[in-house]
Amino acid sequence: MQPETLPPPVEAPPTVAPPPAAAAAPSVATAATPAPPIGYVAPRPAAIYTKDLTKRYGGLVALDHLCLELDPGDVFGFIGPNGAGKSTTMKILAGLLEPSGGEAVVMGKPVGGNGDFVRRQIGYMPDFIGVYEDLKVSEYLEFFASAYALPRKQRKATVEQVLELTDLAYKRDALVDSLSRGMTQRLSLARVLIHDPPVLLLDEPASGLDPRARIEIRELLKELQRLGKTILISSHILSELGEFCNKLGIIERGKMIVQGTVEELVARARAHPVIAVAVVGDAARAVGVLKADPRVDKVDLAPPVPGSPAAPGVATLAVTLYDPDQHHGFLAERLVAAGVSIDGIHPEKLRLEDVFLRLTKGLVQ
Ligand SMILES: Nc1ncnc2c1ncn2[C@@H]1O[C@H](COP(=O)(O)OP(=O)(O)OP(=O)(O)O)[C@@H](O)[C@H]1O
Ligand SMILES: [Mg+2]
Repeated sequence: MQPETLPPPVEAPPTVAPPPAAAAAPSVATAATPAPPIGYVAPRPAAIYTKDLTKRYGGLVALDHLCLELDPGDVFGFIGPNGAGKSTTMKILAGLLEPSGGEAVVMGKPVGGNGDFVRRQIGYMPDFIGVYEDLKVSEYLEFFASAYALPRKQRKATVEQVLELTDLAYKRDALVDSLSRGMTQRLSLARVLIHDPPVLLLDEPASGLDPRARIEIRELLKELQRLGKTILISSHILSELGEFCNKLGIIERGKMIVQGTVEELVARARAHPVIAVAVVGDAARAVGVLKADPRVDKVDLAPPVPGSPAAPGVATLAVTLYDPDQHHGFLAERLVAAGVSIDGIHPEKLRLEDVFLRLTKGLVQ
């Protein structure tokens, strides 16, 4: 797929106000439309934007005032358990499902009433591809190329390009129904790339794949990221997405619980680091000593780590300080002064999984 065949970016609305620097420019006579100052970058509309997006099925609220924003080039990991509302969100953004309320905007235009525009901007990969008996891989892709009204002369070349990109060229004459799950997922991706849309909605592209096929899909997604696509990708599993998404959001029962850039989320969780303090002997006394210090917010007796039997007589306390920048050295001083023996003190090292556990359990506001 050639990057230069991407559709032109949506132009910034003409009503964008010039930045303050332009207003303060000397009042020499200028043309009717003054040139923006050097270095000024016109704001681009979000690639995907939803506000209070809601979907009800009878009494069931599948989506509950969902707000989502993806800038062009973002790769947003949309994580949630079964029934959370991931597919519902994607179907609405693809124009396949009417919302019950709220806004859904793609590349600057509302989805409702702009079906043709939205279909060209979006490549939607559903969680299930469907059954295509007696159709070869190349015929399948050519069918979609014609459905997107690609000029006849261009179709074969485009199909070859997406087959190469998705590593399926050697399967061009295989029947679609004979492909393995991993190949089917790659074919499904090839299909959504046929019309070279800038925005991809990928509903669990890695589900049901073995570890090798997962890695292949991940590499392919990274390639699409490099091509500048904006990608909304869903999964049940954070570790599947954490590595290459720049933004993450967790959805549960139709509500977005947390979302932000990976750095923002890590920073929010880091603002409340937990320090593991292992003490020997009277743990209750150690808890009392630490709780009495005004710098200490919380002290909990940490459960034993599964699979690693604690040394006899050693208990681990999970300590949280009010000030995240406060060094933990004073904890040792307090304990030693009170006659408590210390086995070790370890500030928590946060992995992305830990960050999300803490954010979703409401441990961090
Ligand atoms: N056509 C429908 N009629 C009634 N309820 C529906 C319909 N489609 C989805 N739902 C309900 O809406 C909720 C959200 O479903 P959705 O498919 O969006 O979840 P999901 O996050 O994609 O889950 P999964 O991980 O299982 O794919 C679920 O409770 C589901 O049962
Ligand atoms: Mg789903």
